[in-house]
Amino acid sequence: MSTMLSALQQARSSYQPGLPAVFGEHGAAVSAVAGDCPEPETDRAKLKQLFPHGYGLPVLTFAPGASPVASAINVGVIFSGGQAPGGHNVIAGLYDGLQSLNPGNKLEGFLGGPSGLIDNECRELTAEIIKPYRNTGGFDLIGSGRTKLEKTAQFDQVRENCRKLGITALVIIGGDDSNTNACVLAEYYAETGAGIQVIGCPKTIDGDLKNSFIETSFGFDTATKVYSELIGNIERDTLSARKYWHFIRLMGRSASQITLECALQTHPNITLISEEVAAKKQTVEAVVDYIAGIVAARAEAGMNFGVVLVPEGLLEFIPEMKQLIGELNELMSKGRTGEQFAAADLPAEVAALGLSERSVHVFLQMPNLIRDQLVLDRDPHGNVRVSQIETERLLGEMVAAKLKEGKKAKKFSALNHFFGYEGRCAAPGNFDADYAYSLGYTAAALIGAGKTGYICSIRNLTQPAAAWTPGGVPIASMLNIERRKGEEKAVIRKALVELDGKPYAELAANRERWALENDYVYPGPIQYFGPAEVCNVTARILQLERG
Ligand code: FBP
Repeated sequence: MSTMLSALQQARSSYQPGLPAVFGEHGAAVSAVAGDCPEPETDRAKLKQLFPHGYGLPVLTFAPGASPVASAINVGVIFSGGQAPGGHNVIAGLYDGLQSLNPGNKLEGFLGGPSGLIDNECRELTAEIIKPYRNTGGFDLIGSGRTKLEKTAQFDQVRENCRKLGITALVIIGGDDSNTNACVLAEYYAETGAGIQVIGCPKTIDGDLKNSFIETSFGFDTATKVYSELIGNIERDTLSARKYWHFIRLMGRSASQITLECALQTHPNITLISEEVAAKKQTVEAVVDYIAGIVAARAEAGMNFGVVLVPEGLLEFIPEMKQLIGELNELMSKGRTGEQFAAADLPAEVAALGLSERSVHVFLQMPNLIRDQLVLDRDPHGNVRVSQIETERLLGEMVAAKLKEGKKAKKFSALNHFFGYEGRCAAPGNFDADYAYSLGYTAAALIGAGKTGYICSIRNLTQPAAAWTPGGVPIASMLNIERRKGEEKAVIRKALVELDGKPYAELAANRERWALENDYVYPGPIQYFGPAEVCNVTARILQLERG
């Protein structure tokens, strides 16, 4: 860690995050109150059979009272997957919560994500070590990684590592896949009597880990505020310069939640929503036609400029591309390499690698650059690395070709941007600082209550922190069966943009006007100090869904 702290870091280090009132007086030493037992939406019989210990558990909230686990314990924690603003505050909240249970409790941070847990690489996290990381962005205190924790041999190794360190509870801070793995691990340890509790914590900027109990994941609020600031700045630039069309791709892997949130905050001229493109079964050609139509209409009104938001995962939602990517994932999991596809240029050569006739056609339609990006090495889950595919560039080039063909919009000049890494490690805004800290505290309370197989849940998030309702939800109740890498798997369902939901309805009601007028909104940078209506405003999607 650098010895020089910025003025904001120094001022921010003394910020005391808000906590739900129930933790206010007694810390995490609270009693768990059992509520309803939610069942998964689908595949109940199969899930009940797969998770006999985790299935059918009640939702929990907390009430003042003593915690059953009173003697000193050792707890392990990992970050899993991509960075999200607020991660360090989860650790700070977990540490403080554990200390409030028993000052003898210890926290061990495993380094580099799940691999640290398997390889037993860890460091003890003391008050002194955690102090400079409070209210800061990033995961650098212990690092993160994408190793998949899913094999029995790994679980046994982790159990052995925990035994050596005297650890009886693990907290996994991760997204949908990591919390799925937390559920499987909890089940295995319950079945084998390992004596290790496993608690999950909802993290991801993508905003796709949510349901009726998880209102949002931490990090989404801050990351979308950073991107919205940048988009607003670009809107003001394009309105001033009046000569560029900006194609801005936004992270989010599959779901378009980030794109939708940023659109609601900034009112761009064009917003593509992958889930809508999929529902309308649009082709790449149809998406290009839609954009070109708006560019031409604005050109006719004398406006050769504008802003287009493109969700990162768009290509996977276009049916013909989805089929192509699915076939490529499967072929590459069976040994085909990127080099083989890069070397194939003729239909017969591509077909010989195993693609169907339709996919051969779609693959060869793509410019070379995009073809190369489509066959880059897969992630540990066997999926294409969507963050590496320059969809914004593909669309810009195809729109230019379309306009040329139709002799419309003579002046079309596109600039490309990709916003993702710019926001993932931003210093958490007040909402994420409070929320992440409270999630850490909740994890401590669930451990204190002796629970396992739960994900931390905090509800009522549009209210100030004191009015939030912390608790836990059995992860097994959030599962469904999906086909992954050619196999049926129990996984947490990703929360895609709902086309019958209020946030999408707000976009749909306004987008025609935003296309032709310049109704840009400039949110400006995140404010950490100042009036509550500027500093504490929550994401638009959260307000519309829960307000
Ligand atoms: P998580 O789902 O692990 O939170 O990661 C989200 C994300 O930021 C996606 O939006 C993006 O596609 C991906 O990570 C990028 O991964 P990497 O950090 O490996 O480049």
